[in-house]
Amino acid sequence: MKVLIVFDSSTGNTEKMAHAVEEGVRKAGVDPVLKHVDEASVDEVPQYQGLVLGSPVYYGLPSGKIKKFVDESVKYHGKLDGMVGGAFASAGGTHTGAETTIIAINEMLLVHGMVIQGSSAGSHYGAASVGSPNDASIEACRKLGERVGRLVKKLSK
Ligand SMILES: Cc1cc2nc3c(=O)[nH]c(=O)nc-3n(C[C@H](O)[C@H](O)[C@H](O)COP(=O)(O)O)c2cc1C
Repeated sequence: MKVLIVFDSSTGNTEKMAHAVEEGVRKAGVDPVLKHVDEASVDEVPQYQGLVLGSPVYYGLPSGKIKKFVDESVKYHGKLDGMVGGAFASAGGTHTGAETTIIAINEMLLVHGMVIQGSSAGSHYGAASVGSPNDASIEACRKLGERVGRLVKKLSK
């Protein structure tokens, strides 16, 4: 069982978050594969049981590269149904678009029929950070990865 983590990052903040998501997936006993969106191909997505997308907040939304990655995945539309999805985002400020970005990613993954688990214990929609992720944001990313990994295991039974 393996989870693909695809992130965009220009100044390294989302990348730090992606590494913490990776740790969490591994902690759940599932293999994480981490790729910058420039290195990732949609053609590999169907081999995974989970897909977590991470983006900097650009004008309240995911970066164009993350959107393009999802748009290109249309060739697998219908084939990703039931896969586990998740999202994380890095913003420049507080209340300036992290949640709208996470929700936009979740919306796209839902159109693929993916299963997204919310959280009742904070970070309800996914993991967010302001600038370089602090300890709490890193922990939220680890938890996100772990929960995605655990759900992958549950659904693969
Ligand atoms: C084109 C552009 C648009 C941005 N728009 C927003 C925004 O709407 N809200 C916000 O909080 N930060 C915004 N930012 C700041 C980035 O989201 C923030 O610096 C983020 O941490 C960068 O992540 P990275 O280090 O992974 O590239 C913007 C940055 C750029 C370059």
